[in-house]
Amino acid sequence: MGKQGKEIVKANVKDVIKDLNTAYSDEWLAHFQYWYMAKWIKGMDADTLRPVLEEQSADELGHAGKLAERIIQLGGRPVAHPAHLLRWCGCGFKEPPSKRTDLDRVIKDVLQAEACAIKFYSGMAEKYRGTDLVTHELFEDLLKDEVSDEEQWEGFLDAP
Ligand SMILES: [Fe+2]
Ligand SMILES: [Fe+2]
Repeated sequence: MGKQGKEIVKANVKDVIKDLNTAYSDEWLAHFQYWYMAKWIKGMDADTLRPVLEEQSADELGHAGKLAERIIQLGGRPVAHPAHLLRWCGCGFKEPPSKRTDLDRVIKDVLQAEACAIKFYSGMAEKYRGTDLVTHELFEDLLKDEVSDEEQWEGFLDAP
């Protein structure tokens, strides 16, 4: 990062990189979880859920990419070993249901992951509001996406 870009960061850069790596790990795991479930599910409503899982899986990977770019920009290193994603993540990982037709579980698990992301991003956006505007804005953008993801999945709860 350039001289002025560094100067405007008032937060502890190590802290920022740590928080970004937590988010980055959660995004990779959400990407994996949604991608897997899109392949795995079957049954009546599976064809309705599948494209949404595929689309959001791609979005979460895009989020991981943006977080990685900010980490690198700050002089950090994004978590580089998949096994370490589980150590770094803040929301944990729920293994997709063993029963392929258990779509209720899929909906519940996605909603749980999205709710955790919303809580985390909202806290992070607040935390860096006055100390690192670029990171603040990144967290805010991600927050907006997860809020809209949650809304979409809540719609499935009322589906017949
Ligand atoms: Fe995300
Ligand atoms: Fe999401």
